[in-house]
Amino acid sequence: MSFRRLHHEQPDSFAFTEENLRWAKKVIARYPKGREASAVIPLLWRAQEQEGWTTEPMIRAIAEMLNMPPIRVLEVATFYTMFQLKPVGGKAHIQVCGTTPCMLRGAGELIKVCKRRIHEKAHELSSDGDFSWEEVECLGACANAPMIQIGEKVYEDLTPERMEEIIDELAAGGEPKPGPQNGRHSSEPLGGPTTLKGKAKGIFERGSDAEELIALARAGRKLPDAATAGKKKSPSKKSATAKKPAKVTLAALQQAAPKKPRLHKTPPKRVDDLKMISGIGPKLEKLLHELGVYTFRQIASWGAAEIRWVDDHLKFKGRIVRDDWVAQAEALATGGAAEYIRRFGKKPR
Ligand code: FES
Repeated sequence: MSFRRLHHEQPDSFAFTEENLRWAKKVIARYPKGREASAVIPLLWRAQEQEGWTTEPMIRAIAEMLNMPPIRVLEVATFYTMFQLKPVGGKAHIQVCGTTPCMLRGAGELIKVCKRRIHEKAHELSSDGDFSWEEVECLGACANAPMIQIGEKVYEDLTPERMEEIIDELAAGGEPKPGPQNGRHSSEPLGGPTTLKGKAKGIFERGSDAEELIALARAGRKLPDAATAGKKKSPSKKSATAKKPAKVTLAALQQAAPKKPRLHKTPPKRVDDLKMISGIGPKLEKLLHELGVYTFRQIASWGAAEIRWVDDHLKFKGRIVRDDWVAQAEALATGGAAEYIRRFGKKPR
């Protein structure tokens, strides 16, 4: 590990925002009297999230809150490389894993992109101050190498081209979808599952329903019991004939002939918050509005041809498919945030 010390230029003071202060007090209260120092890492982390980097006044303020000598807080901040001891990029500080599995899978190429797009040297700011980067040790996602981390989000299965796109999206104010960037759901084989493909008898053998169970569990909802889980309700005539459209893949998108989707000339009475869709930030929402896209229903109705038209028109380079806007919009249009949580196991933005 390289020698880590505080930056030579420091702000005059540090104070938590009111909301963060309330949160910090709750965290400190979790520990017995006299053991408040146990909260040092979460407090430093929250403070860094607030300010962007870890400063000397911040270390002193947290030491006082936790009844610790400042040198003890400094020791923690300088030991853990997740604490940034100098200012980082305003839009993103990119941590590129450079440990063996990532390096064998192309981390060197990602570092070259960082050097070219951000700065030749790690920890230096880009000319506009928006980006910085560093090489770090294994971040625990080796099965999806090569990968990077930005804040609390990880981007896996990267190529240099996708890395460039992520930087472009961030620079434009977008929010690239984290996780695998090659179409994988997690770290399953790229060509699909190779085991446990048989027909099921119990809840753990129900094939595609497994994802639904995981989503339910993550959302804290009751799982079906094993006795009834395997028995599917007899479908109504309508549901038996209604066929869910196949998910559009990047390959299908490239082959599709563009078709203009239904667009609104003026905003409809009900305008949805498109930012609830992961991958759409304020800038992209504005672009979509300018185009005439205002509702979840509109996006949910897109097939490959309509996606291709919007993607070409706004130069999205496949992000609608990669971030699966259609499935997200369909869930939000069907049942709002609750349905989104049920399907994806997490809150919408
Ligand atoms: S080696 Fe890169 S995440 Fe483990």
